[in-house]
Amino acid sequence: MTQALDELFDAARKAQASAYAPYSRFRVGAALRAGSGRIHAGCNVENAAYPVGTCAEAGAIAAMLLAGDRTIAEILVFGEGPELCTPCGACRQRLREFGAGSLVIHVAGPKGPRARFTLAELLPHAFGPDNLS
Ligand code: THU
Repeated sequence: MTQALDELFDAARKAQASAYAPYSRFRVGAALRAGSGRIHAGCNVENAAYPVGTCAEAGAIAAMLLAGDRTIAEILVFGEGPELCTPCGACRQRLREFGAGSLVIHVAGPKGPRARFTLAELLPHAFGPDNLS
């Protein structure tokens, strides 16, 4: 693992430990590297009113904006279980708002990164900010 990926992995793993997921018991952490080089992390936050819950990626994006960054260069999503914890459809669209199709999405489990995709692979022919400019 490169040092840059190692940093993202550590930040996402730490964020996962803060997840609030009493309903699904599926804890997720996400860490993104902004265009500035800074790392911002988030965790999933569930709610008794199920649809109100938010994903780890949404938390990381909110942290990024709060810190003053506006673009995502790379993101790592950390989740457990046998299946790859790829971002849900809504989060793919959230990532499109702040990242290009070339944005790299790493999917990791407790043992480390397991797969990598570009946003264009996960959300082809995306509708995005360019459509409205
Ligand atoms: N979840 C995330 O936070 N990110 C993902 O990429 C996939 C799913 C959360 C949402 C919900 O709290 C739990 O995982 C189970 O779906």
